[in-house]
Amino acid sequence: MLTLGIETSCDETAVAIVDDQGHVLSDVVHSQVKTHAVYGGVVPELASRDHLQNIVPVYREALERADKTLGDLAGIAVTAQPGLSGALLVGIQVARGLAWSSGLPLVGVDHLVGHLLAVFLRHPEQSEPPPEFPFIALLVSGGHTAIYRVDGDSLAMISELGATRDDAAGEAFDKVAKLLGLGYPGGPIIDRLAQKGDPDRIPLALPMRRQRTLEFSFSGLKTNVARWVESNGPLGDEQRLYDLCAAFQRNVVESLASRTFRAARSHGLRTVVLAGGVAANRGLRARAAQYGRELGIRVVVPHPSHCTDNAAMIAYAGSRRLARGEDDAERLEMSPHTALERVTRKGAGPR
Ligand code: KG4
Ligand code: ZN
Repeated sequence: MLTLGIETSCDETAVAIVDDQGHVLSDVVHSQVKTHAVYGGVVPELASRDHLQNIVPVYREALERADKTLGDLAGIAVTAQPGLSGALLVGIQVARGLAWSSGLPLVGVDHLVGHLLAVFLRHPEQSEPPPEFPFIALLVSGGHTAIYRVDGDSLAMISELGATRDDAAGEAFDKVAKLLGLGYPGGPIIDRLAQKGDPDRIPLALPMRRQRTLEFSFSGLKTNVARWVESNGPLGDEQRLYDLCAAFQRNVVESLASRTFRAARSHGLRTVVLAGGVAANRGLRARAAQYGRELGIRVVVPHPSHCTDNAAMIAYAGSRRLARGEDDAERLEMSPHTALERVTRKGAGPR
């Protein structure tokens, strides 16, 4: 059973074809990074325009690479929320048109559920089996940072245990990189520079160190970096820059990993899954593996290409809905917000 997935929620135009076992027949991603890089962040109007220009070629290429036609498919899945409204609409309109003309069922997918289920996608470079439910998942991307308990593959089976009160982790990486004049997106750049630095040479605060909550806050750490640069910069010395990146990354990673594994222990679960763009971070992968070894908890991370935004994860999450006989053709709604229930209120501390 093959599902076509379409993803246009932010700055990647993506179309993929995936079977119900998570095998990826094609996974085409057109990144808009270059369009937005000069602005240091995603410009919504430019994103919509770029999606419009690229969605049809990307769709054609996905069918071509899989050597399939619409007639070979069992259904169509599209990201319906959360994301930039104008960007989401491009994918939704194309999906509606394809479903209408082919008579195939159409399901909307929550982008966050896509990220959380990306770990079930199979990749030729990955031999380890997928996780079993239930598990604890840390979802860390440019727009979202939260810990979930995942009991199954539907919205109702996923509950948020704590999220960020301000910046998402990827957003913090991007903002600090911008502050240091490193370019966009900042996460991979800081990750690379941090490998050459010593995190103990520059003292930065560990976010919400004394609090036992499962919520996060990264804006204080970002200000901490800005203040340090103000009083110690400019960063002419390369080693100082590496050390600063290492100290910042270590503190973000520690904040993420310590809470995730605390959640796993308090729920008595023996599997932790990392998801989202920041799950590609080498520091986070290494620290999570270390916690896992110490606590006897299995850590499963999707292949890096399935961590950042892609349509394969949307196709897979959609295939679960199609398998249950669900069809949104008549009432597919777009929303800038996630359909997952939230327990953390942005900016205002715990509810
Ligand atoms: O999941 P994603 O592709 O898009 C969103 O849904 O947001 O995540 C993009 C985010 C960006 O903020 C980027 O800086 C961050 O993921 N990122 C990383 C790394 N690779 C991507 N952050 C830290 N280390 C990395 N290696
Ligand atoms: Zn994403």
